[in-house]
Amino acid sequence: MIQAPVRVRVEQFSGDVLGIGTPTPRLSWEYNCPVPENAKAEIRVERRKPRHGANESTISVDSSQNILLPWQFEPLDSRELVNVFVRVKTDKETSEWSRPLFFDVGLLMPHQRVADFVGPSWPEAGTDHRPQPLVRTEFTIREKPVLARLYLTALGLVSARINGHRVGVDQLNPGWTSYDNRLECWTYDVLDLIHEGANALGLLLADGWYRGRVGFDGGEANVWGDKIGAFAQLEVTYANGERQSLYSNSSDERWKTTLGPIVRSNIYEGETYDARKEMPGWDRPGFDDSSWQPVAEIPFDEHKIEFPVMRSIQPDKIQEDRTIHVTAGVEPGTWLIDTGQNASQRLKLHMHGLKAGQEISVQHAEVLDKEGNLVTTILKRGHQLDTYISNGKDGWWEPEFDMHGFRYALVKGWQGTLTHEDIKCTVYHTAMERIGWFDTSNEMVNKLSENTVWALRSNFMSIPTDCPQRDERVGWTADIAVFSPTALYLYNAAGLLRNWLRDLAFEQKKNGTVPFYIPYVPMGIWSDPQAIAIWGDAAVLVPWALYMATADKDALQEQYPAAVTWVNEVHGYLSPDGVWDRRPEYALGQLGDWLDPTAPPESPDQAMTAKELVATAFYIHSCDLLAQMAIVLDNDDDRKRFSHFAEVSRAGYGKRFVAANGRMTSDTQCAYTLSIMFDLVPDKTLMEGFGNRLAELVRSSDWKIGTGFAGTAYILPALAKSGHLDEAYGLFLSTKCPSWLYQVSMGATTTWERWDSMEPDGSLNPGGMTSFNHYALGSVNNWAYSTIAGISPMSPGWKTIKVAPRPGGGITHASAKHLTPYGLISIAWNIDSDSHCMHLSLHVPYGATACLDLPGTRQEWLKGGDYQRQYSL
Ligand code: BGC
Repeated sequence: MIQAPVRVRVEQFSGDVLGIGTPTPRLSWEYNCPVPENAKAEIRVERRKPRHGANESTISVDSSQNILLPWQFEPLDSRELVNVFVRVKTDKETSEWSRPLFFDVGLLMPHQRVADFVGPSWPEAGTDHRPQPLVRTEFTIREKPVLARLYLTALGLVSARINGHRVGVDQLNPGWTSYDNRLECWTYDVLDLIHEGANALGLLLADGWYRGRVGFDGGEANVWGDKIGAFAQLEVTYANGERQSLYSNSSDERWKTTLGPIVRSNIYEGETYDARKEMPGWDRPGFDDSSWQPVAEIPFDEHKIEFPVMRSIQPDKIQEDRTIHVTAGVEPGTWLIDTGQNASQRLKLHMHGLKAGQEISVQHAEVLDKEGNLVTTILKRGHQLDTYISNGKDGWWEPEFDMHGFRYALVKGWQGTLTHEDIKCTVYHTAMERIGWFDTSNEMVNKLSENTVWALRSNFMSIPTDCPQRDERVGWTADIAVFSPTALYLYNAAGLLRNWLRDLAFEQKKNGTVPFYIPYVPMGIWSDPQAIAIWGDAAVLVPWALYMATADKDALQEQYPAAVTWVNEVHGYLSPDGVWDRRPEYALGQLGDWLDPTAPPESPDQAMTAKELVATAFYIHSCDLLAQMAIVLDNDDDRKRFSHFAEVSRAGYGKRFVAANGRMTSDTQCAYTLSIMFDLVPDKTLMEGFGNRLAELVRSSDWKIGTGFAGTAYILPALAKSGHLDEAYGLFLSTKCPSWLYQVSMGATTTWERWDSMEPDGSLNPGGMTSFNHYALGSVNNWAYSTIAGISPMSPGWKTIKVAPRPGGGITHASAKHLTPYGLISIAWNIDSDSHCMHLSLHVPYGATACLDLPGTRQEWLKGGDYQRQYSL
């Protein structure tokens, strides 16, 4: 019997979602069984406007149109509520309807966003550590409504309460965007919080990224404005269809503000909470707010308000029940907490036995030094220090508006014994669905993969950041440029990346320059963005990775102009032979193979591979990808243009960087890697020589890695591609310093910024810039998934899948699962050492096709279904 479709989705959202930002969302779904080619999919849409009756319509499309099907119905209006059902129909039978997908639509028209931004009306301190305000209002509801939505955003951060209850679980709302251009507005179902009669809405506000100090080298405060304010629009609909609305504003005198108990708050530096300033009942009706001030309006163009393409930052349940270790510190009243995992997280402490005015402080850090003390120097201004001042009452406390990257915390001022029962620890990141898993017989390899997952979780915090702990935490472009294929294997990060790419397009300079990090804030030597390779190539690499993972052509189209402008700009800087050797006009020039292990601690750009070589290689790669994008987008002129660009530069690259003896002028792991992976030299014999030389360099380095940000993602693919699988495994499995598994052998629970963030003797890398939670070096995992386990996309959205495991390194079994847009691909193989046979089980999603490619056998094309194979080694 034909089964009902499953996993019906809207846009990039894998489940029910409120506040879609488009009137014509695309729909996707999966099949759980084979579907004949001529089958049809029927889509039933039940839609209802809050004040009008419901209607429904059903349309039919080819069953193969199940990925991002364009909206086939009348465009949706703001606030419409939609249920979508899908079923399949063949000549002979019709499936059941799928489970419904529910979503509703945000406020699409700017004039519907009628609330104003409201905040403090008193003169505030000019910068840093301002006490944070509260805003409140009361309203009357005449009878229990049938629908209630709160649309909420802020200049700064906001967290809402209705009648004493927190609205939703989101954190650090509205997230970080390029606020001059875009501000995200979140939608909440608040029906259960509202009741007949008097109600109260309370808002906690904070500086957040908008006005708080952000970034490095001293950072910058008030980047987007020096006034914070919340936008709250509450709409309730009664059974008879009437709507009652409540808008934040400064004119009806019903919105009031005062200072709250958060007396200091900075995302990086931490929060101080003075419980003596609590005002019990402030967020409930009937509270006496006569001493509160009227709010002030903060002007903001409502056209810039958007309904998000991603989900918000939310708690991850994954580590809720972990064992937390607590030990007494050296000084009385101090306790050391070990959460067991470096991550973006916060502690919640049960404060008890304290007198009013007594202080507890909590300092967070990633690592301990050899003496067992927290290492805080590397945090720089990102102090990660929270302080709680007691009001003498017992209660649980967690800071509201900061985030910490840590494994350890030192509590000071504790009365009595601190036990794990007084502590909860919650991990936070942008909510995304986990879609990729990987496992092998080698526990260290598994740990590296898990560490990469943790680095991703820790850094996908509204934007893809470089690190979650020190005073940096910005959207460095190269980091995500090299990591996005791995990220998109592990998580459905399409919404987060698309959101960030929109900011990239806004922040790009007119001449094409992509700022070093997005959103961009001028800081230190980075105050005047210049075109530099890899960092700027993010404009091409990230949209392409996204397209390969999702087949989302609209997203590609949306990002295409930024990619084109970037490559056109670089083209203008090339020497006549197509080599990019012009030095960007700022202190470091190109950043090259950033942080290769030979770069001195204080000069991460002084890597061994020539910067011009790296820059030209990435330029050619970007041209190639742009030409491929142009094919997808049916732009033949561009295809020709960028193919030509690439051809000219390939010739120049060969002449400049390949010496007469067939070696590269930079005789380094990175140089050969890039040449092999980006096909930079057409001559086959030379290429073969490059492969041999790369393998030789790896062997003679005693199995130590020699690449930085530019080469690391590509070195193992380059070794495998050039026929040196043994060297690829040898390097991957090495535990010598530097190597991937060296970090694991040092007890890492995340991937590090530097190969040797911690030296073998436990001391710290002396470089001023040392983090234990960066994801760029974890980009190697994409190789592990595609070559050890053996699965990777051959065409966009995994419509065709390459299944080509290449066992080695003594690994006796491996398995991987990935939820493609078509459904789950899963593979598991193990090697029977007696029979020298590899047994392989494979599940191919219905609607996709796999190309099974085992060494020495004929390729086999497999349709959706389950397969078992045996293969003699
Ligand atoms: C960041 C990196 C970034 C680099 C570029 C560092 O401080 O943490 O990951 O790409 O700077 O200069």
